[in-house]
Amino acid sequence: MANSLTNMVGDYLFEQRIRTDGASVESLAVRIAPLFEQADTEALHRQLTASGGELGGRLLVLDKTGKVQVDTYGTLNGTRIDAPEVANVLMRGDVADYGVHALNDEGGIKSNKNFLFGSAGDSTWVSYCTAGIISQSDVIGVLLLASPVQTMMSNLYELRDQMLLLFIVVAAFAIIFCLIFSQIITKPVSALTRGIQSMARGDFSTRVQIQGSGEMRRMARTFNSMSEKIESLDQARNQFVSNASHELKTPLATMKIMVESLIYQPEMETGLRTEFLGDINREIDRLSSIVTDLLTLVRMDVKDVKLSRENMSLAAVVKDTEHLLAPLCEQRNQTLTLSLQDDCDMYADRTKLQQVVYNLMENAFKYTQEGGTINVSLQHVGKNAVLKVQDNGPGIAAEHLPHIFDRFYRVDKARSREAGGTGLGLAIVNQLVVLHGGEIHVESEVGKGTTFIVEIPLHQG
Ligand SMILES: Nc1ncnc2c1ncn2[C@@H]1O[C@H](COP(=O)(O)OP(=O)(O)O)[C@@H](O)[C@H]1O
Ligand SMILES: [Mg+2]
Repeated sequence: MANSLTNMVGDYLFEQRIRTDGASVESLAVRIAPLFEQADTEALHRQLTASGGELGGRLLVLDKTGKVQVDTYGTLNGTRIDAPEVANVLMRGDVADYGVHALNDEGGIKSNKNFLFGSAGDSTWVSYCTAGIISQSDVIGVLLLASPVQTMMSNLYELRDQMLLLFIVVAAFAIIFCLIFSQIITKPVSALTRGIQSMARGDFSTRVQIQGSGEMRRMARTFNSMSEKIESLDQARNQFVSNASHELKTPLATMKIMVESLIYQPEMETGLRTEFLGDINREIDRLSSIVTDLLTLVRMDVKDVKLSRENMSLAAVVKDTEHLLAPLCEQRNQTLTLSLQDDCDMYADRTKLQQVVYNLMENAFKYTQEGGTINVSLQHVGKNAVLKVQDNGPGIAAEHLPHIFDRFYRVDKARSREAGGTGLGLAIVNQLVVLHGGEIHVESEVGKGTTFIVEIPLHQG
């Protein structure tokens, strides 16, 4: 590129010279034509020497065969000059021609103008300007002006070198810039790819560094929050499995001890034996209720769980539950007051809502001391049915409240188990309420009592 640019500049500069030199040589050729025809060498030499000095070059007159007849420097007389510019005038009949050549030591043409290799100092550079000497429209000879163009050529070579240098510097900068830029762009991408790969291998603790441009940072942040969520889901699942196994193991262990006692003590008295069998029976009930609750939960985990909706009244459900739990209430000597201000007719899954009401009321009876009071109220507020189950029991300490709806979470494990609880009741209640598009809250104060508040939309699309 530097070379062709230099050629262009060179062509432009030589063009200028062609115009001035060409015109002088042509007019001189016309003037010397008669002298050449008369073969007046003496006068010809005089005329050429004078003009040569003027033009700043060496003038040669060549005959039709290209042989030098007159040389203002006097050294080339009789030799043939086979420069293309001479041939063009003699053979092709051009009026004038122009060319630049590097000469070798003998004065012969070494090469034509070409800047690709070497430097100006390696050769002697001359320009050849020729014009035909014409007599009666016949070319009878050639006038050749050879002028040194060394300075011009060195300037051009210098220009070429400078341009080469410039190109190299620019190219180097471009390459460095590209390398740095691509590094900046690909680094966060490859970090993210590594993160995704390690997630795919199952390492959910993977987090990527937030770096790069705006969009990359957002992607990294999204990735991190996604992996955080997956990690906590994974932990919750593990926790659930280990809790479930533990819950199932406890009654099994108890039963094993009792069964072994029965086996190894055949002489055990009947009363004790019956008691043991009764205990085993209770443990079987516990196991079966845990399994039932687990199945309920797992079924609800399936995303597209179907609610079998029907027209129903929530007030009626509360009354039914009251009947179901009346024995427990009586047994514990507790007072239950219902305040059903609205029927709360709705299109919902009756069985599932009954489960909600039953679990909440059962808890209230179970965890409130004997002789306590339980209030159940139902109201229609805005578009929601609001059910409150309130007791004056022991209450739940603030530190337990955030976990109360977690699976297997029990404030007092021993007490809950004694009461036949699995720790899954509230988790199930929460899921059922959410399935109906509702919400559940709990308010509690230790020593004063607990209130569970359920809000369920009356009409849902
Ligand atoms: N009304 C209440 N008063 C005090 N504590 C309660 C009440 N309801 C629930 N709890 C506490 O919340 C825990 C979780 O309840 P739940 O999920 O129904 O499990 P379970 O009744 O099988 O123990 C209970 O073990 C109990 O400690
Ligand atoms: Mg319960």
